[in-house]
Amino acid sequence: MNKILLGVIDDFAEEQAKGFDLNHSGSDTFFIVRSKNKLFAYKDSCPHYGDTTLPWKRHHYLNNVAEYIVCAAHGALFQIENGKCIQGPCLGQKLTKVPIEISEQNEIWIDQTIIKEFNL
Ligand code: FES
Repeated sequence: MNKILLGVIDDFAEEQAKGFDLNHSGSDTFFIVRSKNKLFAYKDSCPHYGDTTLPWKRHHYLNNVAEYIVCAAHGALFQIENGKCIQGPCLGQKLTKVPIEISEQNEIWIDQTIIKEFNL
């Protein structure tokens, strides 16, 4: 099996995010956001500064009105649909999008090669 099951779409409420720690290292390395009935996955690394992770608390990737992904370090805001920073110190830069797959049974999968390639 070359893929890892991450869950099912119904694990996510609308405008909700969840981080994943596939290596059980104690830190999430990527996250998935459900927005407008679509899922978006990004590496948990802010383009502003090194490998800084985004949330101030586990799974808290969205701002208080759940309109944008937010980096807690310096307040950068990113569009959920494309990861582009629209406010903050990394204006115009993007979060790294992580490819995930959705099966016909609404299962969410990630390929092992993606995990290696993105160092997740
Ligand atoms: S490290 Fe994310 S905004 Fe500075």
